[in-house]
Amino acid sequence: MLRPSVLRLLKRTGASRLSLLEDFGPRYYGSGSLSARDDASDARAYFTTPIFYVNAAPHIGHLYSALLADALCRHRRLRSPSTAATRFSTGTDEHGLKIQQAAATAGLAPTELCDRVSEQFQQLFQEAGISCTDFIRTTEARHRMAVQQFWGVLKSRGLLYKGLYEGWYCASDECFLPEAKVTWQPGPSGDSFPVSLESGHPVSWTKEENYIFRLSQFREPLQRWLRGNPQAITPEPFHHVVLQWLDEELPDLSVSRRSSHLHWGIPVPGDDSQTIYVWLDALVNYLTVIGYPNAEFKSWWPATSHIIGKDILKFHAIYWPAFLLGAGMSPPQRIYVHSHWTVCGQKMSKSLGNVVDPRTCLNRYTVDGFRYFLLRQGVPNWDCDYYDEKVVKLLNSELADALGGLLNRCTAKRINPSETYPAFCTNCFPSEPGLVGPSVRAQAEDYALVSAVATLPKQVADHYDNFQIYKALEAVSSCVRQTNGFVQRHAPWKLNWESPVDAPWLGTVLHVALECLRVFGTLLQPVTPSLADKLLSRLGVSASERSLGELYFLPRFYGHPCPFEGRRLGPETGVLFPKLDQSRTWVVKAHRT
Ligand code: MSP
Repeated sequence: MLRPSVLRLLKRTGASRLSLLEDFGPRYYGSGSLSARDDASDARAYFTTPIFYVNAAPHIGHLYSALLADALCRHRRLRSPSTAATRFSTGTDEHGLKIQQAAATAGLAPTELCDRVSEQFQQLFQEAGISCTDFIRTTEARHRMAVQQFWGVLKSRGLLYKGLYEGWYCASDECFLPEAKVTWQPGPSGDSFPVSLESGHPVSWTKEENYIFRLSQFREPLQRWLRGNPQAITPEPFHHVVLQWLDEELPDLSVSRRSSHLHWGIPVPGDDSQTIYVWLDALVNYLTVIGYPNAEFKSWWPATSHIIGKDILKFHAIYWPAFLLGAGMSPPQRIYVHSHWTVCGQKMSKSLGNVVDPRTCLNRYTVDGFRYFLLRQGVPNWDCDYYDEKVVKLLNSELADALGGLLNRCTAKRINPSETYPAFCTNCFPSEPGLVGPSVRAQAEDYALVSAVATLPKQVADHYDNFQIYKALEAVSSCVRQTNGFVQRHAPWKLNWESPVDAPWLGTVLHVALECLRVFGTLLQPVTPSLADKLLSRLGVSASERSLGELYFLPRFYGHPCPFEGRRLGPETGVLFPKLDQSRTWVVKAHRT
């Protein structure tokens, strides 16, 4: 299928379909290079964040989880703009002992606490531009119905039995722990108390008659699933860790608690003396959102990408797929795992008083600035440390100076008095490198720039696929630097529009730089949507020209017409990104060359 813009070009140029396709072949990297994935452009994709506990206000780690999912989803929409094909859910996890205890400590009814904190998450996500299509709360009636239905399916398949369950339980992490995962820590009064080795949270001994899920039956099916789907858990080290866990013993799992102990949850159908385990309750949210148990859910499942933090990997990569297999369904297609943010080298915690409020950050650094920071600096494979100076330094250098400076250099009235997208001159910049002639001005480094930017969309797509969004941004940033080098090298401010010798080359330099900026703006949309909009609007790129399918970089270089050539730039609306000062108060400095 040819894209509409290509067909428009075809009509205008009278070129044959075949020759155009050949020409748009391997060297032409618009969306052409993304074609393998575009095949699936009409296929549905369902992205999810974890649902967030409402025991405390959101912090930057929570926002990070949501931003990763948002960027993945936005990038997917950029590949296939049909919004009906993507769904993106987030929400709040409102049941369980942890919330029951937090409400009691705050002197609130659980519903009051849930309403209050859930609202904070919704507000934060709206302010941060999280483009979710669904927000679920586990206290909703539709969810209770879905969970009870799911329970019924597991029961009818003989996967639940009643038995005595005895072991350590950690209310903060809402999980049972084997003896080997518990250690004793000295308390303030000298006596020691048991804590989880992994999280450091207190644990208590529990002995109850519960419903138990036959998890042990699923060791081999889970191993087969993971071995047959090496991309199921990304990045790869996490896939490997789960396979290692599956080499260890996999005991059956208690999936209910005595209601007298845990009343804040969904009752076991037909047995009010038991409340469903909060993780089983919470995981089913991914089905509730897509309409389970109604058949409509099947058009979204299992085309699912769960975005989760490393601390909840076992729940998503072992318990959840086992529950699904048990219920006769497929495991999720992909699980993307990220690491955590620490603050000045320490784990974020209420007791340490070092929790960073994401709304303050969004105000201080702007929504796009803070989104860029978290996604540019956050590395999924290992923890990242937050401190303010890092944010200021990164945003000033990459958004204000490099990107903002580049835009200003190419659009400032002094250099571009006609305020248009100037023409590209093939005599000055022939498509064959190494040609010599009186009008040839392009140098070897300029060809390297064109080739780097031409391959950028594909590189970025691959990084998104591997859940390395920071690498996608690093690649964009490196091309921005290269483009600044190109402008610096040819110093358009020293060239004269009046000179017949300079003018075609001056136009070409600006044309190439604007084309590079158009690529950067398009690729930055998933991470900095408003900033990218501002950039693309300044370049005069219309809304229908902003998808990856429309991204034909530098067509004149490849012998094709360029729809932007001669077009008026969009209106000047001020600096692209205001420079921050080190003392963290705003200094809105304009960038001039
Ligand atoms: N309610 C469960 C998830 C149930 S999903 C069916 C839960 N909630 S949470 O609020 O504790 O965590 C939600 C997400 O935030 C998790 O992905 C978790 O890894 C992430 N983060 C919590 N602290 C974080 C950091 N310090 N840094 C980055 N992400 C962090 O777990």
